[in-house]
Amino acid sequence: MLPVYYEYHNPVKINAGKNALETIPHELKVMNASRPLVITDQGIVNAGLLDIFLASFKGSGITIGAIYDKTPPDSSVVAVNEIATLFQQENCDSLIAIGGGSSIDTAKGVNIVVSEKDSDLRKFIGADRLTATQKPLVAIPTTSGTGSEVTLVSVILDAENGVKLPFTSRLLLPKLAVLDPRMTRSLPPRITAATGMDSVTHAIEAYTCLQKNPISDAYATAALKLAGKNLITATEKGSNVDARFAMANASLMAGTAFSNSMVGAVHAIGHACGSEAHVHHGNAMAILLPYVMKFNMSHVGNLYEELLLPFAGEEIYLSVKKEDRCKKMIEVVLLTNHHLQKICGMPVKLSQAGVDFSQLEKIAEVALDEGAMLPNPKELAYNDVLSILKEAF
Ligand SMILES: [Fe+2]
Repeated sequence: MLPVYYEYHNPVKINAGKNALETIPHELKVMNASRPLVITDQGIVNAGLLDIFLASFKGSGITIGAIYDKTPPDSSVVAVNEIATLFQQENCDSLIAIGGGSSIDTAKGVNIVVSEKDSDLRKFIGADRLTATQKPLVAIPTTSGTGSEVTLVSVILDAENGVKLPFTSRLLLPKLAVLDPRMTRSLPPRITAATGMDSVTHAIEAYTCLQKNPISDAYATAALKLAGKNLITATEKGSNVDARFAMANASLMAGTAFSNSMVGAVHAIGHACGSEAHVHHGNAMAILLPYVMKFNMSHVGNLYEELLLPFAGEEIYLSVKKEDRCKKMIEVVLLTNHHLQKICGMPVKLSQAGVDFSQLEKIAEVALDEGAMLPNPKELAYNDVLSILKEAF
């Protein structure tokens, strides 16, 4: 059934494909920007990706104002303030983020500070607290997972107080997302697998959560179709440019889907596994997804049935009776996890991801307070979360 009312918002321009990086200087000129600050991390520098990016600017007439290449794995308040100072010192007028979710989230945080002209990020925590027009932001994802290049969310770690600060505003959306196959081809198999399963989770939760809508459904199913066909190949044969590019598209589409619907209990419990036991986000998603689906199937089993076709393909879909398709979909997710484990060692149980059994009760408590619980299609009590965690352990 369609929702009585919904809104969908995605104004991000997408330049994708061969030599997409080379279009950025022109796009900056269109945005009246001429002195971008580049935000990236040491992994990108060491993989030679920053060099590829810089080469694409040669002869373009655009001067890079400054480069910050020390973004930490968890975007932090300290890094945001350091970069904002650099932005002002070097008279920059725009931002280019190259990296995974951390670099892009950091760039969004920097944008808040320099655009709102206030270094106290805490004033802007929550939804729709921004008022100033933000500086043009170009996002170049180098992982295929978060979809942060098309989301209105940023999460910044406040290490001093031990909390993650969430920001949500349509003003945070990048102006341009650039998917260039050169930027994801060196991603290691373990990260390809984990971030890929993050995308799969975004698509499945966007398609089944309480705030789903027909536009997010379209992106979610298209994302699942690409991920179903390409995640194993991209993990197994990283040099396969087509599979890499397909996963970059899957990640972007799943990102725009959940940015406009929401996620659900996999993310709520996964965030708690991250904060309480330092489980990598993508690994947590992969591990928890089949068990949360099993819990949710009494409420959205018909939707899981529908997802079997895009995710597993026509042959499997037609070979299974209608009444068995929901269970088959969950089985395909589990099989995908095990296949990925065989290829690259991705953990498929919490016990393999560094979680101790004694931590499960605390993780369940923390998960219940997560905002992502609210749009889950079936309400969870403490014991439900604990049962899911024990099954996933
Ligand atoms: Fe996620």
